[in-house]
Amino acid sequence: MNKKIVIAVDGYSSTGKSTVAKAIAHRLNYIYVDTGAMYRAVTLFCVQNGLIDSQGKISDKLKSLLQDIKIEFRKSDDSETADTYLNDLNVEKEIRSIEIANQVSAVSAIAEVRELLVRQQQLMGRAKGIVMDGRDIGTVVFPDAELKVFMTASPEIRTVRRFSELKAKGENVSVEEVRKNIEERDFKDTHREISPLKQAADAVVLDNSNMTPEEQLEWLYEKVKEVCERD
Ligand code: DC
Repeated sequence: MNKKIVIAVDGYSSTGKSTVAKAIAHRLNYIYVDTGAMYRAVTLFCVQNGLIDSQGKISDKLKSLLQDIKIEFRKSDDSETADTYLNDLNVEKEIRSIEIANQVSAVSAIAEVRELLVRQQQLMGRAKGIVMDGRDIGTVVFPDAELKVFMTASPEIRTVRRFSELKAKGENVSVEEVRKNIEERDFKDTHREISPLKQAADAVVLDNSNMTPEEQLEWLYEKVKEVCERD
């Protein structure tokens, strides 16, 4: 396929967006961008700078410090995928912790944070040939994306997937804690005032509750082919 398009992948937490997005990017030789990692990196910045109080409230000081936050994705030598860097430090591991997951919805509800990150994401997609996953990619970042996918899976399956992922990384969490985090994030992500998670009218739904990663990749590849052959 010669034509390069923009593929927007949105959906609930722990539906496996990044797995399928990375796989299709690899197959098509596209750039993959994990926008959740960008919101997580800003959250880590808040934690590191004492900007979150014990009630989980984010200090207004963050807005004046946004210019000090530099987020990049850099490829590591031994892996195909890119790691997230916050102000030149590799934070890939820290941003995946349950502590950051518990605070990230509050940070991502701040208008100034979203404006800054959306602008950076739009710049990354200027040349097309990109797969971006998140919550507002098909609705806000790239409303004109040629292919929009909305991912969902049953809450039970998502809890088990996330729990195994965190365990494999050595995080000490309980299934209950993971379930609670997923439920809370779903609620906050879909109810926030600015850019709430919602399915774009022209998105295709991928419910992967009973699909293997390989089946999802084939499904998505067919969709890309349809779009590229149609236009
Ligand atoms: O995809 P993820 O679970 O790593 O995302 C972390 C959080 O960031 C998620 O709970 C909501 C927020 N997010 C967002 O608001 N908009 C995006 N485009 C991506 C993530």
